[in-house]
Amino acid sequence: MSRVTISPDALVRLTQIAGEAGCAILGHYGKGGPVETKGDNSPVTLADKAAHAKISAALAAWDPTIPVISEEGEIPGPEGRAGWRRFWLVDPLDGTKEFIQQNGEFTVNIALIEDGVPVLGVIYAPALDLLYYAGQGLGSWKREKGGAPVRIFSRPPLPQHALRVAESRSHPSKELEEYLATILVAERVPAGSSLKFCWVAEGKADIYPRLGPTMEWDVAAGDCIFRNSGEKKPRASSLVYNQPALKNPGFVIGLDDSALETGSGEGRVVWFTGLSGSGKSTIARQVVAALEARGEAVEYLDGDAIRDIFPATGFTRPERDAHIRRVGWVASRLERHGVTVIASLVSPYEESRRFVRGLCRHYHEVYVSTSFDECARRDVKGLYAKALKGEIKHFTGLDDPYEPPATPELTIDTTNLPVDAAVQRVLAYLDGGRA
Ligand code: ADX
Repeated sequence: MSRVTISPDALVRLTQIAGEAGCAILGHYGKGGPVETKGDNSPVTLADKAAHAKISAALAAWDPTIPVISEEGEIPGPEGRAGWRRFWLVDPLDGTKEFIQQNGEFTVNIALIEDGVPVLGVIYAPALDLLYYAGQGLGSWKREKGGAPVRIFSRPPLPQHALRVAESRSHPSKELEEYLATILVAERVPAGSSLKFCWVAEGKADIYPRLGPTMEWDVAAGDCIFRNSGEKKPRASSLVYNQPALKNPGFVIGLDDSALETGSGEGRVVWFTGLSGSGKSTIARQVVAALEARGEAVEYLDGDAIRDIFPATGFTRPERDAHIRRVGWVASRLERHGVTVIASLVSPYEESRRFVRGLCRHYHEVYVSTSFDECARRDVKGLYAKALKGEIKHFTGLDDPYEPPATPELTIDTTNLPVDAAVQRVLAYLDGGRA
């Protein structure tokens, strides 16, 4: 037994283990062996089991003190794993569907997690003889068809540039299509299994959005290879490990790192203001969805929804002021805990908006400046018709004022701008580019 260190020697040993597991898999490849279905409906073959046996034996022989969580092994419950500082996460055969379809894009994935971060990782596609591996501080590497290893690098995409998107071959999703509608897409690059992480790590794709949940063993090795592919510093990743259900929510690998740093460390408040029906909430909701998909902690505060819960909130100036101050205060408290708060309220008075700005550390005002006439023409909720007949009093823009912000961070007029484009402008602004 020897201790596992984060070293080039450890990487060599890890790639040998992945190589042996790959051989075990190829022994079953194309033979049409039995396919069982597991409790979660995913297929499992003799190849999964053979690779699992090889890897668990080899890791135990290397250092029996480091526990192994493998997709095909016994998985201890959260109490049994509490306090683990080092453990292996193994997916012996990722892409069983690709294996059964014989398109070659299935992989062996092994990663060592240390204090919540993947510090060693290997992905091996035996049918393609394609190997990727990385170690914390040791860079990310690729070896193809037995050739010499080459170091691979990736770069955060520049703000407002069209992106090359790595996407799944076998998991088409409505959420992905919705997300892609909010960004500029240059190209869609399909890949099987965890090779999508490798495509980003070696610069073949800029981002890899995965909007549904994933098991930690599906992503750990790829995450390690991605993180260590940064040119000057590690790339930022939102993925975390040893969670109770061993599951991560949706994520986008490869996005501008500053967006993630803000999300994980400091919160911010993005305050949408504008007339009723100007498009605030429609844009805000999609911004929320896009940020959540990146793994950011986001809370959405909507004026209408809050008024529904507290129905006595009226529309006189003092009542609106009290409402805005309450919501602003909540936003500022959430911000302190690292949450990105997206708020959407008419908030017609400069004074109360300034009050909220003062409460928050990072306050970004988005003025949705669509005109009264255009909002009245759309009249999505039928309120303008009623207000014009005198059935609603204190209606903003009619018998109540709307004071346009003097210095908003961003102004968006939705008169001739599709929702997708508006969402894109907000995201580009938040990512550091000026829209
Ligand atoms: S705010 O002025 O206090 O910020 P908030 O955003 O919470 O308003 O709620 C505004 C929503 O309430 C509008 O989108 C509209 O649906 C509805 N509403 C009802 N009466 C009025 C009114 N008199 N003025 C503005 N909005 C109204």
